[in-house]
Amino acid sequence: MAYELAPLPYDYKALEPHISSGTLEFHHDKHHAAYVNNYNKMAAEQGMADKTIEEVIKASFNGDAAKSQSGLFNNAAQAWNHTFYWNCMKPGGGGAPTGALLDKINADFGSYDAFKEQFVTAGTTQFGSGWAWLVLDNGTLKITKTPDGVTPLAMGQTPLLTMDVWEHAYYLDYQNRRPDYEKAFVENLINWDFVAQNLAAAA
Ligand code: FE2
Repeated sequence: MAYELAPLPYDYKALEPHISSGTLEFHHDKHHAAYVNNYNKMAAEQGMADKTIEEVIKASFNGDAAKSQSGLFNNAAQAWNHTFYWNCMKPGGGGAPTGALLDKINADFGSYDAFKEQFVTAGTTQFGSGWAWLVLDNGTLKITKTPDGVTPLAMGQTPLLTMDVWEHAYYLDYQNRRPDYEKAFVENLINWDFVAQNLAAAA
């Protein structure tokens, strides 16, 4: 079924000064829109227009995140990943979570600071384009990183939080300083309410 490009869940200026309106306009209206349009076109051409995007992602993954993927997979995964990413941020977000989510982070990583360090390191060490993730894998929280459009959804893990580390996510605001963007993301933008909802839904 056709996948809709949802509007951003906040105003284009809402994440300033950490992410500019210019970045969000290009990232959502150009990059994300192109993935959605390409996905809908390819899914129709390949007889998969009756499937959900999650079904297409799982069916078109070639099983090896390190190998190049098909155009259908890349566009489906990038359409899904970006919708998820927008919801992972909010104005006035970031810092440590609370409640059951913080308890789970402490149990599985040792501390919030250990989580933060592993998550930022995943983003920094993803060579080239990709994503850093907090996932639930067999009941345990894990940090992962994926190249290009690869999504943990294709590999049987439940995505809880993601950070886009493609250059288009930060280059207008931070140029080559990916770690500065990551620091701003973790300290000022993470929407822990969304992450907690994802964890509760998966439990
Ligand atoms: Fe992106």
